[in-house]
Formats: sequence, structure tokens, C-alpha cells
Amino acid sequence: METPSAGDRRRHAPAAARNREAIAEVLARTLPARGLLLEIGAGTGEHAAHLAPRHPTLTWQPSDPSPEARESIDAWREHVGAANLQPAIDLDASASTWPIDQAGVDVIMAINVLHISPWSTAEGLMAGAGRHLGAGGIVYLYGPYRIDGEHTTPSNRDFDASLRARDPSWGVRDIGEVAALAAAHGLVLAERVAMPANNFSLIFRRR
Ligand SMILES: C[S@@+](CC[C@H](N)C(=O)[O-])C[C@H]1O[C@@H](n2cnc3c(N)ncnc32)[C@H](O)[C@@H]1O
Repeated sequence: METPSAGDRRRHAPAAARNREAIAEVLARTLPARGLLLEIGAGTGEHAAHLAPRHPTLTWQPSDPSPEARESIDAWREHVGAANLQPAIDLDASASTWPIDQAGVDVIMAINVLHISPWSTAEGLMAGAGRHLGAGGIVYLYGPYRIDGEHTTPSNRDFDASLRARDPSWGVRDIGEVAALAAAHGLVLAERVAMPANNFSLIFRRR
């Protein structure tokens, strides 16, 4: 994440500029017209700023446990001025309770979060989805994944090694393991979409 210049608290993540349009295309046919979307680990806030205006009748709630991230998200919110984009909230997905109403969440989204955080983030995210999503609710995940334990490309294997060198609790997750975790909380993997640069969109639905 690049540091903001003085007077402008908006941060920029180069990956967000590269992946946001491909993500927007999947979301255009996936998200409900109305309801509440909770974005986990919203980071700079660039996805929220780019995507929330395209879904103006969906309430977009960004969150991140990092104060610097929340500051950037709120600066992006101010910049785009989308009425449906809410101020960022402090939410750690691995916590056993989240600072939002128990019911009434329609979509939980996490872009490039599960591999750059401990497995407990994935566990907490799916447990939270089990608590907060109603029947038909969606979990949308984006990022690099392994399939049946195997990396999809040598570059993803190298990326995984570099992540684990930075923090042994990080790493490229396996789709089957994420799906098994989801199933334990009443969610089925409804769709797997191959995305540019060896990433996937994973769409889970609450039974
Ligand atoms: C690589 S950044 C991705 C940010 C943004 N989604 C994007 O794609 O540009 C990972 C983000 O996950 C957040 N994060 C890490 N652990 C988390 C957790 N346990 N719960 C929620 N967010 C977490 C970090 O603070 C960081 O903003």
C-alpha cells in the first residue's frame, strides 16, 4: 500500500487498479439489487469507491481492523460521494462477534484478504457468514488459490513462498479447504470463476 501525500489521506494499492474491473464484471451479475454488503479487509477503500457507485441501491459497508486503512477508506468515500457507501468500521473477521446487527447482511466480500492473514481470518469470516447471512446470502472471495493442494502456476508457488517467508501464518489457501470450512457454516461453493493474473472469484451461497 502506498503512503498518501500530505492533505490527501487516500492510499493506493496497484493491484486494486488492475483487478477492480474484472471483479466489477463478476459482481454485476452476482450481487442483489438491494440489501447490505459487508466488505471485510477493505484496505485502501479503492474497491468500495469503484464498486459501490455501480450498485447504488445496495448499502456498502466497508471495514478493516487497521486504523490507517479506515482513514484511507473514509477519504475515498469522501472523494466519490456515493450515498450508499458507509463510513468504515473496525472489524476483525477472526473475532467471535462482529460490530454489526446479527441479521440483515446480504453479502460478505473479501478481496485479497485470506492469503495475507492467518487461517483464523478465514475461520472467522465463515463463522461470521453463518451468523449474519440469511438464506440465499452470498460470500464473495477474490484472490489466488490452490486447487486440490496444487498451485495453479509456478508464479503462484513463488508468491506463496514469499508470503510464508514474511509471515508463516499467511499463504495461498486451497479452494477445497475453504469450501469445507464454508460448508461447516451452511455455505455451498456455488461458482468458481477464473480471473486474470491467476486469481479466482469464489461465490458461496448460504443454504
Ligand atoms: C492485502 S490487503 C487487501 C485490501 C483490499 N481488499 C484490496 O484488495 O486492495 C489485506 C487487508 O486485510 C486486512 N485484514 C488482515 N487481517 C484481517 C482480519 N482478521 N479481519 C479483517 N481484515 C483483515 C488488512 O488490514 C488489509 O487491509
